[in-house]
Amino acid sequence: MEYFSEAVGLNCFDFFVFDKPDALVEGISTGRDVKFESKVFTQKKGGWLYFQVIYAAEPEMLIFKDISEKRRLNEAKLNLSTMLVHEVKNPLGVLKTVLAELIEEEDSPEKIEKLWMADKQVHRLERIVQQIEYITMAQLGLYKPKNEKIDVLELVEDVLEDLQHLIAEKKIEVVRKIDVQTLEADRFILRTILRNVLSNALKYSLPNSKVLLEINERELIVKDFGIGIPENELERVFERFYRTPMAVKMASGSGLGLPVVKYLANLAGYEIELSSKYMIGTTFKLKFRS
Ligand SMILES: Nc1ncnc2c1ncn2[C@@H]1O[C@H](COP(=O)(O)OP(=O)(O)O)[C@@H](O)[C@H]1O
Ligand SMILES: [Mg+2]
Repeated sequence: MEYFSEAVGLNCFDFFVFDKPDALVEGISTGRDVKFESKVFTQKKGGWLYFQVIYAAEPEMLIFKDISEKRRLNEAKLNLSTMLVHEVKNPLGVLKTVLAELIEEEDSPEKIEKLWMADKQVHRLERIVQQIEYITMAQLGLYKPKNEKIDVLELVEDVLEDLQHLIAEKKIEVVRKIDVQTLEADRFILRTILRNVLSNALKYSLPNSKVLLEINERELIVKDFGIGIPENELERVFERFYRTPMAVKMASGSGLGLPVVKYLANLAGYEIELSSKYMIGTTFKLKFRS
């Protein structure tokens, strides 16, 4: 507001120095609505600000919305995540190799146990960094979904094999109902979503229970009979790093799985439906087409 006090009595083109004034001029002269983002130079602040410029012909209105702060924050966040991913990946790779060698050479069971613990944490860090990378990619619009023919059974077996340790550890039966042979989708997106959602169902299931996996032409459904999510926390589980208190006690995690799922589903144009009852279970639905 302080910014606009200097505008009184001025023609907007005297007042603002645009980096692309043509769009607005054309809108005004042809009487068409325009909406775009532009850099605007302000003498008062002696720098560029980012504005959303909206021109409505009927009733005639010109709106300038300052989005500089929001934009700067976003840029800072993205830079930070990109940097983090790149700077952390290499040392983690080196750590993994060194640890593997140490474990191989070590004879003392006690020391091997400690090395295993370190190795487990390194893997965990690696997964966190990977999830951050997915989110950043999706946010930057760097990932363009491909249209691939996917063998559904093969994909499911592949993901289940990845999660075999969880399945065996808790003696969970994964009941499959696969009613479609192939799907046209992006393999990376579908695999990542399935893996994250299945791993949640397994992690937050009670031992000796069942997890149902259903895939057909229209949707993918994962249903479990685990700890569930209290209703007032259902909204929050898609926030980055959010984990319910009960989940924190039950299993390790980063709170980045569902945010990644949401971003990727958005990219692919899928709709998500999450329903859950505390201590009864959770159902996750991914709708390919609405
Ligand atoms: N199937 C599920 N059953 C119970 N809680 C779940 C389930 N899936 C997700 N949640 C809740 O949502 C939170 C966020 O999930 P996610 O982003 O995958 O993080 P993480 O798996 O690392 O905990 C979990 O910590 C948990 O509280
Ligand atoms: Mg998860």
